[in-house]
Amino acid sequence: MTVYERHVFVCTRGDWCPAVDGDGLGVHAAMKAAVRDAGAAGTVRINHAGCFSQCGNGPMVVVYPEGTWYAAVTPADVGEIVARHLLGGDPVERLRYDPPDGGPHKLQRDGAGRPAGRPGPWPAGSE
Ligand code: FES
Repeated sequence: MTVYERHVFVCTRGDWCPAVDGDGLGVHAAMKAAVRDAGAAGTVRINHAGCFSQCGNGPMVVVYPEGTWYAAVTPADVGEIVARHLLGGDPVERLRYDPPDGGPHKLQRDGAGRPAGRPGPWPAGSE
């Protein structure tokens, strides 16, 4: 028996995803609101989470029971993830995270603390 049909963890407690690599806190808030507005709060749970050791690729989101990982999620992506995946069961392929190796995969940082080689989007006010 599962308690929730889908259980989502958003990296909001790490050092990078919440406000440097993107807007993890905004992603979490938007996802909670979208699920609530869809009347699905009883079957889809959105939780804060600590670092997934994928810093620089974030904001990171993981969806269970599928074990689908998403990277560089923005608040603007949330509606699509909720409608297609969390409610419809169809993962959003364009946002899926497929790391080159299993285990930790943190990107190197440039002098400004940005993950080297990764384009934005960056949260407003952090550039
Ligand atoms: S801070 Fe989010 S994966 Fe490390």
